[in-house]
Amino acid sequence: GITRHYKFDIRLKNMTRLCNTKSMITVNGKFPGPRIVAREGDRLVVKVVNLVPNNITIHWHGIRQLRSGWFDGPAYITQCPIQTGQSYVYNFTIVGQRGTLFWHAHISWLRATVYGPLIILPMQNASYPFAKPYKEVPITFGEWWNADPEAVINQSLRTGAGPNVSDAYTINGLPGPLYNCSQKDTFRLKVKPGKTYLLRLINAALNDELFFSIANHSLTIVEADAVYVKPFETNVLVITPGQTTNVLLKTKTFLPNASFFMLARPYATGMGTFDNSTVAGILQYEKPSNSSSITASKRRPLLRPTLPPLNATSLVMNFTRKFRSLATAKFPANVPQTVQKRFFFTVGLGTNPCPKNQTCQGPNNSSKFAASVNNVSFILPTTALLQAHFFGRSNGVYTADFPSSPLQQFNYTGTPPNNTVVTNGTKVVVLSYNTSVEVVMQDTSILGAESHPLHLHGFNFFVVGQGFGNFNPNKDPANFNLVDPVERNTFGVPSGGWVAIRFLADNPGVWLMHCHFDVHLSWGLRMAWVVQDGKLPNQKLPPPPADYPKC
Ligand code: C2O
Repeated sequence: GITRHYKFDIRLKNMTRLCNTKSMITVNGKFPGPRIVAREGDRLVVKVVNLVPNNITIHWHGIRQLRSGWFDGPAYITQCPIQTGQSYVYNFTIVGQRGTLFWHAHISWLRATVYGPLIILPMQNASYPFAKPYKEVPITFGEWWNADPEAVINQSLRTGAGPNVSDAYTINGLPGPLYNCSQKDTFRLKVKPGKTYLLRLINAALNDELFFSIANHSLTIVEADAVYVKPFETNVLVITPGQTTNVLLKTKTFLPNASFFMLARPYATGMGTFDNSTVAGILQYEKPSNSSSITASKRRPLLRPTLPPLNATSLVMNFTRKFRSLATAKFPANVPQTVQKRFFFTVGLGTNPCPKNQTCQGPNNSSKFAASVNNVSFILPTTALLQAHFFGRSNGVYTADFPSSPLQQFNYTGTPPNNTVVTNGTKVVVLSYNTSVEVVMQDTSILGAESHPLHLHGFNFFVVGQGFGNFNPNKDPANFNLVDPVERNTFGVPSGGWVAIRFLADNPGVWLMHCHFDVHLSWGLRMAWVVQDGKLPNQKLPPPPADYPKC
């Protein structure tokens, strides 16, 4: 591989959408941020310079960061933030991965505006396991906020109430013509007839899983989270925040001048933070060269695809079950066949009591929303966990007593318990190098059943099983798929159900696992794995770089 250098200047820039102009935090003045393109095996060197008043970090979502955890990016987990006027050089090699990922800010809600595609092409002489597409097009879903997203979450944390929602969803930063004052801000995909396009879909939205569909065209899914999958066709797909999906779009053979809507809008369960508005882009067939002979007079309203209802939970389960690893000699699925450490994690919402002398607007107008794993709501430390771990200074920073099963036992998907109060703490699980791990994540109905897109840093995991209701440890494991389960870095724990994942802890460092809804992340739905060094030199985390930020 080669070394590719990028420079990210974090700076303020005025942007206008929906007739609303605001100054916002950008990378190099772009929204969405610049596209990074590299090849498998390349080294990426990205100098991030902070020219805004806010602290910032950048996370390379889905990059394994093998023995390079200092560059993973989540604030106070693997690094202290880059302060105003400071810089930090992220420097890592892309090992054994190719496909679509993305990068985003990983502090407070700055990723609302600070994100962009991270495209990893196969090695120079390697090819795709499908016919070479005519063209490749990144399609990044995001949100547009008229307000300052950081102010939105800070207010929510202060009052304990749910935060406001964004004002629009976007495709490559553009809300599209179904919003007021947005006609000109429409993403147009111009295509030629009879060709195959590779669409690289990225959900960078803060708080919503999205349905996506293009009128009159089906899509063939070929990759998920930068891992090839067995191809399958669909008219509608679901993509959670943190997920990336590559699809092939075959254009029709002769459709001069025709245009079709592509639409995305939320899949929303329970009491999630969502609205039901729709972002639209346009798939537009090129005019033939002798276009003068074709009259543009027949202006009909564009055809719209049909999207499922907001709460189509079974449809989503059926869709996600279709994903399978290739599991071929060339692209094997290295599923851990045996498990050394088993965990049962409940994920869901809860509450914190309202502090004395304060009024709170959370559940029952008297508490603050919280979210937790195993009833533990994660409190960010004031120094980086990785640094504390590496230098043996964990005392007073974190405790290694994260529970391996929930603190409160109950019927998770039945009647919720009366006491919703969470425990707060900075607790981690310590794993020795190369431990094979299984985690069953169970959605709880405390304050409503809701799906949670769980994201694991530093690893891909295999989704060996999922189902509705309470996980049954005596029955469900018999149906686990240990042959060709999908391998990804983010997966939705189904609303009112569970998912079982496996991974091999072969990457020393500290790795965050969290709900990729930023509101749940902020409320504490996160925990961290500390993976110890192995014995061999190539199983150890090297020391941090000289410019590693200080708190
Ligand atoms: Cu895409 Cu921890 O994040």
